[in-house]
Amino acid sequence: MKRVGVFLMMALAMWASAVVSDNYYATEAGARVLAEGGNAVDAAVAVGFALAVVYPSAGNIGGGGFMLVWDGKKAYFLDYRETAPTGARVDMFVREGKFQPQLSTVGALAAGVPGTVAGLLEAHRRFGQLPLDRVMAPAIDLAERGFRLSVFQARRFKRMEKLLRRFPETSRIFLPGGRVPLPGQLLVQKDLARTLRLIARKGRSGFYSGRTAGLILNTMKRWGGLITLKDLQNYRPRWREPEEINFLGLKVYSPSLPSSGGLILRTVLGAVEASGFRRPGPLYHHALIEALKLAFYDRAKFMGDPDFARVPLRGLRSRAYLMERLRRIPLLSPLPPEKFEFNPWKYEREETTHFSVYDGKMAVSNTYTINGLFGSGLVVEGAGFLLNNEMDDFSTPGVANQFGALGSQANYIQEGKRMLSSMTPTLVLREGRVEAVLGSPGGTTIPSVVAQVLLNLYLLKMDPWEAVVAPRLHHQWYPDLVFLGRDFSPSAARALEKMGYRLRWRRPLGDVNGIYLWAGRYYPIADPRGDGRGAVVRSSTGKYEGIIMKTRGHTP
Ligand code: GLY
Repeated sequence: MKRVGVFLMMALAMWASAVVSDNYYATEAGARVLAEGGNAVDAAVAVGFALAVVYPSAGNIGGGGFMLVWDGKKAYFLDYRETAPTGARVDMFVREGKFQPQLSTVGALAAGVPGTVAGLLEAHRRFGQLPLDRVMAPAIDLAERGFRLSVFQARRFKRMEKLLRRFPETSRIFLPGGRVPLPGQLLVQKDLARTLRLIARKGRSGFYSGRTAGLILNTMKRWGGLITLKDLQNYRPRWREPEEINFLGLKVYSPSLPSSGGLILRTVLGAVEASGFRRPGPLYHHALIEALKLAFYDRAKFMGDPDFARVPLRGLRSRAYLMERLRRIPLLSPLPPEKFEFNPWKYEREETTHFSVYDGKMAVSNTYTINGLFGSGLVVEGAGFLLNNEMDDFSTPGVANQFGALGSQANYIQEGKRMLSSMTPTLVLREGRVEAVLGSPGGTTIPSVVAQVLLNLYLLKMDPWEAVVAPRLHHQWYPDLVFLGRDFSPSAARALEKMGYRLRWRRPLGDVNGIYLWAGRYYPIADPRGDGRGAVVRSSTGKYEGIIMKTRGHTP
């Protein structure tokens, strides 16, 4: 009897597919594609395009990102990060010797060459099963007929009203009638629908040449941007080897450079595992914070686009390097920053979005972004989409940025170069079986957040829901502060202060949208810190049947 039960559970697990993203409509788009027989990549492409419509603060076709794909046998890493356009110079945001953060964050000059469309199309070309127009249909429909804003989204629009008013085309689309839209209001995006239809019909030339490219160039001309037709036509996503991390008998896959995410994850998971602490408490937090400092030291000092910068990858991945540094950490107090001999650089913008899909065999973990909330604030006139402000993720030499930090050479601006990222879409495998698919927004906090969920799950043995809701902290080596989510326990914070850490409270960290194997089934969990939803698509017959939407407060 017991054996039959186990077998049944395995069958259910086999046929249940799941999707989770930051938005109800986007999750539904992915679930429908799964229900129609699409695989995880089809569904991920559907979610990616749908988020560009229904989650305009971070979902995009004007930005870039990273995708991890598990095809049932092997992990693949697709890098579709933006590149610096022709004419981009190392000091392009400096005026009279002073770095101008406005220039790197708002308007046309802040935009890197968008990679999202090329990336999603490339993933679909290589792994997709359904035709592109079917996969893009939900996004086109949502843009054409409109969608209703959630309370969470409406609050974001309100918060960013000033940026949305900055450019007339952006106001026309996102402030209909000149007013910030209310929760429940319908937002229709006809221009975006047209752009998406062009992409569905023509593939990459629907975006990187022809009408859409012409509109991007007009916008560049009008607002003083650098992106050229050649930049658009030459843009290519890259398949790269992911970081493969051995952790407690698991294989963890995450992006390698130009994202720092995988390397940071490697250091943090390795250091905390080596610390020997297996229960949350002051010593565990101390080990975690010091691990983060070491990882972010490396990020600041050495990391950048590997096609342009020389990066000591062997060293960064070496166990000996990690152990040598761990030995320097005092047992009960922080390793003072003066013991590190350089200045790292900066914080990054924190508005990004992550979604995860699993279809019973293949899995997709995707994080993409336009960097800041609503990116550069600049909509391409007539094409209906926002451009990113990813150029701000580069660093400028010798000039302290808005946070008083300096840059590192590996990440200086150069034409065609990809700016360093922290995005950390992650896959976890155990003996070839998918255990978890997860990631988060949050700029430099992303790898800290992903590492903590992995540690919660596999080191501290929490169940997936507990692992996601547990309070989080962040340290990025410089500034020398431990950032605590508002949900962090005050007594645990006092214990850290006693050890000598300087603390800074902030809004809760991260928004992890993941799918987890738990007791034989896969559970999509949307982080209650965000606005996401998960859905399960079930089948007992071999044909997909119902879609079950999970509320964000779902407990396995
Ligand atoms: N723009 C945030 C990141 O790429 O890490």
